Amino acid sequence: MPDCRPCSNLADDSSRWLHKYPAHLVRTWRLASGESFSLRPVRHDDGALEEAFVRDLSLESRYQRMLSGGVKVTPEWIESMTHIDYHRHMAFAVTCVIDGVEQFVGVGRYVVDAARPGADVALVIADAWQGRGLGRRLLATLLEHAQSAGVRQIVGVVLATNVAMLRLARSMGFSVNAEPGDATVMRIRRDLAAVNTQPH
Ligand SMILES: CC(C)(COP(=O)(O)OP(=O)(O)OC[C@H]1O[C@@H](n2cnc3c(N)ncnc32)[C@H](O)[C@@H]1OP(=O)(O)O)[C@@H](O)C(=O)NCCC(=O)NCCS
Repeated sequence: MPDCRPCSNLADDSSRWLHKYPAHLVRTWRLASGESFSLRPVRHDDGALEEAFVRDLSLESRYQRMLSGGVKVTPEWIESMTHIDYHRHMAFAVTCVIDGVEQFVGVGRYVVDAARPGADVALVIADAWQGRGLGRRLLATLLEHAQSAGVRQIVGVVLATNVAMLRLARSMGFSVNAEPGDATVMRIRRDLAAVNTQPH
């Protein structure tokens, strides 16, 4: 198991996006087993961390997150994952420091859909850290933040074979329904009126 510590290195340039960076959302998470992590909004200069994180995912985790093995990790794709507006598109990274270098161990995001009420959610935890409670905390963070931002419903598309995500979603109050016309995926849906907004 890697030695994991939180990272507090947040400000390294004066780019314009920093003015809207919601630094007040940074948290430190500790697992019962002792490891500490930073939870923080994704930064526009996180491209290298995002790329390393996605490249290190197993094919299975990548497939479950992207719903496709064919997503190419291009500079444009990385930019679309990191150059977020913190409003319509919100993303949190769970990070730790391994051998002095900050690394992503999880990323979750929601994107408000202009055509429908609500937002689409997706998250992924690094393979080495799955099953330790990080996914549940990250999803709870996304729900709480979305609710506080006025999002009324969170939806997601999950592979029908993704037992872990479907179980997590059900345990957090999502409904799970078949997607009409596509037996390979399920649609998860959660209204946000009743989300507990205790600090995390
Ligand atoms: C799905 C995923 C985000 C869950 O994150 P995680 O950190 O592994 O999950 P947690 O340790 O927080 O566990 C939360 C719950 O998920 C379910 N779960 C997690 N791993 C599971 C497994 N291997 N089998 C069955 N259920 C599992 C359980 O309900 C668990 O709750 P419990 O521990 O009280 O039983 C993670 O496995 C992942 O990144 N998978 C690949 C990408 C993906 O599938 N993303 C979802 C598409 S949007």
